Amino acid sequence: MSANDAGPAATGEPAVVSQAEEGGAAGGPLLEVTDLRVDFHGARTVRAVDGLSYTVPRARTVALIGESGSGKTVSSRAIMGLLPESARVVGSIRFEGEELIGLPEPKMRSIRGGSIAMIFQDPARSLNPTMRIGAQITEAIHTHDRSVSDAAAFDHAIELMELVRLPAARERFRQYPHQLSGGMRQRVMIAMALSARPKLLIADEATTALDVTTQAQIMELLRDLQRRLGMAVIMISHDLGLAASFADDVLVMYAGRAVERAPTRKLFSQVRMQYTRALLGAIPRLENPPHLPLAAVPGQPPDLSVQQLGCPFAPRCPAASQKCVEVRPPFAEQEPEHLWACWHPAGVEPRS
Ligand SMILES: Nc1ncnc2c1ncn2[C@@H]1O[C@H](COP(=O)(O)OP(=O)(O)OP(=O)(O)O)[C@@H](O)[C@H]1O
Ligand SMILES: [Mg+2]
Repeated sequence: MSANDAGPAATGEPAVVSQAEEGGAAGGPLLEVTDLRVDFHGARTVRAVDGLSYTVPRARTVALIGESGSGKTVSSRAIMGLLPESARVVGSIRFEGEELIGLPEPKMRSIRGGSIAMIFQDPARSLNPTMRIGAQITEAIHTHDRSVSDAAAFDHAIELMELVRLPAARERFRQYPHQLSGGMRQRVMIAMALSARPKLLIADEATTALDVTTQAQIMELLRDLQRRLGMAVIMISHDLGLAASFADDVLVMYAGRAVERAPTRKLFSQVRMQYTRALLGAIPRLENPPHLPLAAVPGQPPDLSVQQLGCPFAPRCPAASQKCVEVRPPFAEQEPEHLWACWHPAGVEPRS
């Protein structure tokens, strides 16, 4: 798999910034993941991420979708440098042109929670139950800048709590996580993630635990903040309606790799991969997408401890041929802005 996912999204809907302004010194995308591999070593080596390549332009939202175990969280944690010791990470993760893989921990720590922040899949466990909300937010502020006075950190924390529309911020400041509703705790997590004004926010199932109304409010809030702060977002979601409503681009993952990517509208109107088609199930109407979970794809995901020769989806794919079993299809831009990895894409005449 090569890095031919070089910013197709940048030419899609009007970007907030021009190509020349985008990215680091080289003028590339904000984030560029190239041929990323993550192996977990143990009794058996599990290849959780297997040659993943994608880019995130500045101030855009990219939704990562894929069935459970497809590597969404592991690949995101690799960006944050937050994987356990048993993980071996190879490939390239460039942020504003700077390589993050192999960066010394103190430097990585300053990027983590600074330029890049992540809201984790399990917010209930990400907040410290024994610490007041305010103390947790001011601690996050002090992590990025120790020179901030306590009074300034307090003011900034209240500002952040108001920014994420946490009602009665001053009273909440002294409360503990268990005194807040799930939606409010999620807002606290977002406030902490935003404390350093990140350029990239990774939201891993940030709203999954919440009811539909609160989900929509939180996503609206993220979108509003994204516009105001010019932040890029990687949004990991099992909710197709949310992905369709909020993402500029959708990246579909299977077995640790990217298999289809396109601007959201294009992807929903013109699915090429059988796997994406199965995931989308009854494709929601883009104009008024309902909250629909990703469909369960028939069959079992592959064993990630066994290396696949061909397309890893072939055993479950209704269109698979012998070639699919033997030769891995490359993930490449097959139509303008539309990348996929398939020998028999839906709706495309076979080449003679
Ligand atoms: N610490 C670990 N040691 C070994 N394998 C791991 C570890 N963490 C994750 N994995 C494996 O890596 C693969 C990818 O997991 P990941 O958590 O990224 O999936 P996901 O796409 O986020 O799924 P979900 O939608 O359920 O959150 C899975 O097969 C998982 O079992
Ligand atoms: Mg996950």
